[in-house]
Amino acid sequence: MKVDVILGLQWGDEGKGKIVDVLTPRYDIIARFQGGPNAGHTIAFQGKKFVLHTIPSGIFHPLTLNVIGNGVIIDPLILFREIDNLHESGVQPEHNLVVSGRAHLILPTHRLLDAALETGKGAAKIGSTLKGIGPAYTDKYGRNGIRAGQIKDDTFPVLYHQLRDAHLETVHHLGFDITSQRFEGMTFEIYEQQWLAAVERMKSLTISDTETLLNRLLDEGKKVLAEGAQGTLLDIDFGSYPFVTSSNTISAGVCSGLGISPRRIGTIYGIFKAYCTRVGSGPFPTELFDTDGETLRREGNEFGATTGRPRRCGWLDLPALQYAIMLNGINSLIMMKSDVLSHFPVIPVCTGYSREGKLLEGYPFDAGDPELKTLYREMKGWQMPLDQIEKPEDIPGFLEDYILFIEEKVGLPIHLVSTGPDRSQTLVRKPL
Ligand code: GDP
Ligand code: IMO
Ligand code: MG
Repeated sequence: MKVDVILGLQWGDEGKGKIVDVLTPRYDIIARFQGGPNAGHTIAFQGKKFVLHTIPSGIFHPLTLNVIGNGVIIDPLILFREIDNLHESGVQPEHNLVVSGRAHLILPTHRLLDAALETGKGAAKIGSTLKGIGPAYTDKYGRNGIRAGQIKDDTFPVLYHQLRDAHLETVHHLGFDITSQRFEGMTFEIYEQQWLAAVERMKSLTISDTETLLNRLLDEGKKVLAEGAQGTLLDIDFGSYPFVTSSNTISAGVCSGLGISPRRIGTIYGIFKAYCTRVGSGPFPTELFDTDGETLRREGNEFGATTGRPRRCGWLDLPALQYAIMLNGINSLIMMKSDVLSHFPVIPVCTGYSREGKLLEGYPFDAGDPELKTLYREMKGWQMPLDQIEKPEDIPGFLEDYILFIEEKVGLPIHLVSTGPDRSQTLVRKPL
């Protein structure tokens, strides 16, 4: 069998959690392949809402195995917060969760470093979620990291203290005041104690060679869905560097992040909002600073699932979408949050960029260039609520025109259209 993939095509928060949850009954295994607790994936059903940071979004289906792959970085304390939250709702994630022994750990001092480095950047800060992502991946690639598979080793305490002390020295050199920081509401010392306790608890989880497990299950005919975190425009190589995250969020990351050959990749689903949002700093050519932006934020409830920060909002950017489709080799599209656009009589869509009067081809290297102009095509708004729509035949005409326009521009079908946060608010426009 093949590994299907679901990826965000914008700056994250496209609705990946919701759609992975919706698609999970079709799969035996859901696997995260990159990122860490910077992700916040929201799932809503039966009046309940959950936000997952590290655990894959298939966890609510007890017969589905959920894999935290080698490309993911794990903060044990945040992981157990999630597990405890799930317990409160009667979900027992330990039963269907496997962690790669090769996944790297985020240490408390990675978070300290993240805060120290961001503070040092001043106005040029990235707007990181401050979960320690950049420093933890830096240690991975610098070959200094500690992996989940090492927590039971006798050498773990020594390795931990060596790395921690080296980090503290750097933090000290940066002139950063540790006492000014709070981590999940705690001082550094208390956070560290709780983190070490979470590492102890982690020993009870299934930690294994998930690459071998996944390849064996695929050989046995099992179906795998790889769940992306963040979005293509936050990719370390192709995003708006340096305002990016520290992993490959694109489809190429699935192979290295799970130990899967490219020959194993099947359908690649691309998920996008019917407009755009971004949280944190960096270029955003179609960003709105007016009441339309406020309306998108209000109606879309655009506040970060991980940090609670207000998300920046703007119109759909087709050149950016086309770029993301190209990088990922998308086969099928899923459009989210169409209901949020119900409030607009006219909906502009960015169809291209120009500089000094010349039309640009493709997505520019410097999307933040102030000389860059965005060109819009205005679409008619449907101006009606979508919550009563249960069948794709009932999609209002102007929404269908909006969808057809995007399909024509990017040359791909939009299979699913999401009309609300709940699992049930998902229209299958074309069979998957
Ligand atoms: P993810 O990181 O890609 O999983 O997305 P987030 O969970 O961070 O953000 C998506 C937000 O939009 C969440 O609050 C979802 O509950 C919500 N959402 C998902 N789909 C829809 C939709 O079609 N309409 C509306 N109004 N909200 C949606
Ligand atoms: P999900 O999986 C939206 C953004 C941060 C910041 C930049 C770098 O929920 O879509 P980092 O913490 O990685 O050092 O932050 O990337 N960012 C996200 N934005 N959704 C996410 O994840 C994000 N993960 C990181 O806001 O601008
Ligand atoms: Mg999110």
